[in-house]
Amino acid sequence: TEEQPPKTDIVTLTRDVLSEQFRLGTAVVGDLTLLLTAIQVTSKFIATNVRKARLINLIGLAGESNASGEEQKKLDVLSNDIMVNALRASGKTAVLVSEELENAIIVEDRLRGKYCVVFDPLDGSSNIDAGVNIGTIFGIYRIQPGSKGAISDVLRPGSEMVAAGYTMYGSSANLVLTTGHGVNGYTLDTSLGEFILTHPNIKIPSRGKIYSFNEGNSMYFNTPVTRYLESIKFPKNGKPYSARYIGSMVADVHRTLLYGGIFGYPEDKKSKNGKLRLLYEAFPMAFLVEQAGGIATTGTERILDIVPNDIHQRTSVFLGSKDDVQDLIRFYEEEA
Ligand code: AHG
Ligand code: MN
Ligand code: MN
Ligand code: MN
Repeated sequence: TEEQPPKTDIVTLTRDVLSEQFRLGTAVVGDLTLLLTAIQVTSKFIATNVRKARLINLIGLAGESNASGEEQKKLDVLSNDIMVNALRASGKTAVLVSEELENAIIVEDRLRGKYCVVFDPLDGSSNIDAGVNIGTIFGIYRIQPGSKGAISDVLRPGSEMVAAGYTMYGSSANLVLTTGHGVNGYTLDTSLGEFILTHPNIKIPSRGKIYSFNEGNSMYFNTPVTRYLESIKFPKNGKPYSARYIGSMVADVHRTLLYGGIFGYPEDKKSKNGKLRLLYEAFPMAFLVEQAGGIATTGTERILDIVPNDIHQRTSVFLGSKDDVQDLIRFYEEEA
């Protein structure tokens, strides 16, 4: 077949978000778009540096620990710094919460905007040195009426987020976004430096064939989880599920969105509240998964309904295909 000339009607992320704002007649068109432009720049910066990490001495530890008690990698710190700088300078933010910063940043008056961004600058940092997929996760709230930016603006249920997404740094950089009207996926065209719409209106299959848990924690798992996993590995009829676990939430959730199945990081006898952080890991992913037609639960409660009382609080997480997560929930109901 003959080579085709390039398409001239390309949908970039910015064009897509703007056109949605026009469609909805959003009062102030452009503010969220500008904020998302800043986020895109940070994703491009991180994507570039992840790619060069081995060459420019960005592998390894930075020498400090974060609020979750984890050792920070150099790339954790670099990614945090670019996000704080770009988001603050955008003039669109009032409160910033990062996995890598113990306290929230309240943006100074001069630069204050209407949005609060909670983020995991680099997710999956244990995978960095091996060159395995990693990502960035973000969630966006609008500040409450009359607020000048305070912690209370982000200690709100995930259902109040106005947008959420992640960028996965893999064989390509993929940004997946929801503004509450479905989920769209964009792929970075490095020659243009633009995220191009490649996965419009992502919907999770209602049932999958894959489960994604760190089964190395099996001896700590609670009964409903153990019994659920048993049920999909030794089914009474049909084939057992396949196991896939990368250990980067972004990559495991990305696969779950596209292929279906279930991802879980449960609370267990050792980690009583689970491992994943509610505000900047569980909420954004739960928002995306629900918008794609799936379910996100702690086992006993819808994740997006939780009211946080600490910015770094942890939660149990199960998310993915509707039917698969329903099956898991039934084991919790039997236990109760
Ligand atoms: P982070 O690298 O941002 O601290 O997040 C790590 C999280 C998440 O990416 C992943 O789902 C999980 O930790 C993996 O944990 P295990 O290594 O315990 O399986
Ligand atoms: Mn970490
Ligand atoms: Mn993470
Ligand atoms: Mn992280």
